[in-house]
Amino acid sequence: IPVDVFDLVIFGGTGDLARRKILPGLYRRFRAGQMPRDARIIGAARSELDDAGYRALVAEAVREHLEPEKRDEESLAAFLETVHYVTVDARGDAGWKELCALIREGTVHAFYFSVAPSLFGDLAERLRAHRLADGKARIVVEKPFGHDLESARELNRTLARHFDESQIYRIDHYLGKETVQNLMAVRFSNILFEPLWNAQYVDHIQITVAETVGVAGRGEYYDKAGALRDMVQNHMMQLLCLIAMEPPYRFDPDAVRDEKLKVIRALKPLTARDIVRGQYDAGPGIPSYREDVGNPDSFTETFVAMKVEVSNWRWEGTPFYIRTGKRLKARASEIAVVFREPPHAIFGQPRDGQGNVLVIRLQPNEGINLWVRIKEPGPGGMRLVEVPLDMSFAEALGPAAAEVPEAYERLIMDVIRGNQTLFMRGDEVEAAWAWIDPLIADCESCGEPPILYEPGSWGPEESAMLMHREGRRWREIRE
Ligand code: BG6
Repeated sequence: IPVDVFDLVIFGGTGDLARRKILPGLYRRFRAGQMPRDARIIGAARSELDDAGYRALVAEAVREHLEPEKRDEESLAAFLETVHYVTVDARGDAGWKELCALIREGTVHAFYFSVAPSLFGDLAERLRAHRLADGKARIVVEKPFGHDLESARELNRTLARHFDESQIYRIDHYLGKETVQNLMAVRFSNILFEPLWNAQYVDHIQITVAETVGVAGRGEYYDKAGALRDMVQNHMMQLLCLIAMEPPYRFDPDAVRDEKLKVIRALKPLTARDIVRGQYDAGPGIPSYREDVGNPDSFTETFVAMKVEVSNWRWEGTPFYIRTGKRLKARASEIAVVFREPPHAIFGQPRDGQGNVLVIRLQPNEGINLWVRIKEPGPGGMRLVEVPLDMSFAEALGPAAAEVPEAYERLIMDVIRGNQTLFMRGDEVEAAWAWIDPLIADCESCGEPPILYEPGSWGPEESAMLMHREGRRWREIRE
């Protein structure tokens, strides 16, 4: 279903994110017939370009970032007709009149801030001054949303001076991933899982977001952030919220976000001693993290593993183990809900194996597996084996699974539709910082360097120990 006609301005329209994700994503929606042909995409940046120059940049971005089967020259040419460009000075007056002239009355107005956070205030102020911040206008704000609680609050205050909360769309692209939304679908549209979804039946939960890439090229940002700020405060926290939250009373932006907020507020505080911090070392032909960022003394972590506890009625006694890292063995992200053993064993054999586990696979090969024990076939008596009920989406849904929009395209369409469900509310972001700030401060002040780990491993041994100590282990994850 096509969305309403819109004028979308991308500040930072020549930047890396625009080229890698936003523009190819918009093209995909155009090709799928969801973006109206008379919508306008307006790149806005400092570079001196004209429409033709920007269209060339957009075409190149689409060709570079989409595989040949996901594009064709005819639709690309039609898409480029919707693309415009203005040279705009975020901190001055240049270009704003021209920008205003391109934005039409009666369309949905959206402004994507794909720029450094230090420019958010200037942009918001100028949008207001040029009467572009009316009730129908929306702004889209990229991460990082602040560096700590104080800076996030300051950003929220700045944006609130010019825009109402209902106009602000803070992106966490993990919320746009298909399987992440499936988490809610599985939990709240089936009777099977919810009765067991609590500390009485769930032994523990594992959340792994593993990457094989390092941080080369992003060192300047990353070395000041580290995995705690870059992944845990936002993406991992959002995944944890969707698993742990109470059922919202309806699928409505504030109802969902109210429930997520309660989870964040219920998190037990952690100290540096409670978590494992790692940093990737050099490997054969692979530079170390310190070489990648050009900082031989860096204490920044590229891996963390920790046990998180949600102190509320539903989850007291069920730990959430989370881990994320760069240069790990596989690019694979999954959530595993590990259920407790049945109270009584009648088959007279030791209950080894993993028992019932619900595995929600985020990427790659999205899908859901439910492991169950059944009888091993044959006359050998009651011997048990564990098999998965396999809901790999590609198989279960066929071609529809291949057409799934990527996170950014889905989220941008939600902005146009005015649906904030998959965007973070200001108080949610602040609560996440409020929880993680003391932990980061403790790590920084304890003076301990992160533990070096081999590239291509699963991080430092201590991460496995964290589980072993409690009689558990990380599930084996394959790409
Ligand atoms: C970004 C982080 O938000 O998410 C990156 O800044 C990380 O460091 C990326 O690599 C992971 O996203 P995805 O979609 O590739 O899992």
